[in-house]
Amino acid sequence: MFSGIPLFPQQASTLAADVDALYLFIVAITAFFGILTTVVVIYFAAKYRTEDPMKVGARIHGSIPLELAWSIIPFLITIVIFAWSADVFFRLQRPPDQTLEIYATGKRWMWKFQHLDGQNEINELHVPVGRPIKVTFTSEDVLHSLFFPAFRTKADAIPGRYSTVWFTPTIVGEHHLFCAEYCGTKHSGMVGKVIVMEPTAYEAWLSGNVAGTSLAQRGQRLFGDLACNTCHLEDGRGRGPSLANKFGASERLANGTTVPIDEAYLRESILTPQAKLVEGYQPLMPTFQGLVSEENVMALVEYVKSLRTAGAAVSRAEAPGEPEAATAPQENR
Ligand code: CUA
Repeated sequence: MFSGIPLFPQQASTLAADVDALYLFIVAITAFFGILTTVVVIYFAAKYRTEDPMKVGARIHGSIPLELAWSIIPFLITIVIFAWSADVFFRLQRPPDQTLEIYATGKRWMWKFQHLDGQNEINELHVPVGRPIKVTFTSEDVLHSLFFPAFRTKADAIPGRYSTVWFTPTIVGEHHLFCAEYCGTKHSGMVGKVIVMEPTAYEAWLSGNVAGTSLAQRGQRLFGDLACNTCHLEDGRGRGPSLANKFGASERLANGTTVPIDEAYLRESILTPQAKLVEGYQPLMPTFQGLVSEENVMALVEYVKSLRTAGAAVSRAEAPGEPEAATAPQENR
């Protein structure tokens, strides 16, 4: 619909058409009642116009059928909008199990993308077509918002928290990306492009940009430099819990609750270790708040994610042949 009129950006992801359909439905409903009300107001104003200033209107008594109609019809319409929106929302929020993972940080005034193989990009993001991609990101300073109009997906970048967006690009080419949250003087310049490539071209791009160290390898080095390895022994007998095969599982805490071990939990445990204390361990770990940059936190998170032995029960297994699997260190410490 409206294909000839450039009202919307290109529909370049698997969910773009669903988002547009819902949006157009809401626009159509709103337009229908908006126009209906306007027409009726004008029509009645003309029809019941009188020149006699002393004339008073007839008294109106309630009408049960009418009142039921104008309660039930809008109720049903809003329920349809709610159910439809919830369906689209959950599909936009829940990435599939097998995604290509990319990290990003927003800072005044640029987006920095970090591939698992170690490649960095600023205000550019290369991705393969037809593959679900999950971007995990945060902000290093103020609120930003990472928006991919052609993929119809957007999320705020919040300092101190991980956000994610996911999409499966369907059209090869360059699409716009930008910051959608006013963040200061050069907010309007916080733009970039996502370059969707054929899988073979993407592989060539990846290998032509070898950075030497993968993100997980960088994390492994930091793990040693920050002396994390002196407490987090792999056999679980250290002062801190073992981190092997933890990602994707869940952790029992000292307060009796259980939390899923995801990126956000790992990040929090690095920066504010006392926030969620693992059952059976003392609150000995120092905070790394302010000592580790967001990019290094991402490297550490990715390193912990790589500490999975084959066959371990994890809910978010990586696709075989994924860069992470190919380059992640198998033998640790
Ligand atoms: Cu960053 Cu606007």
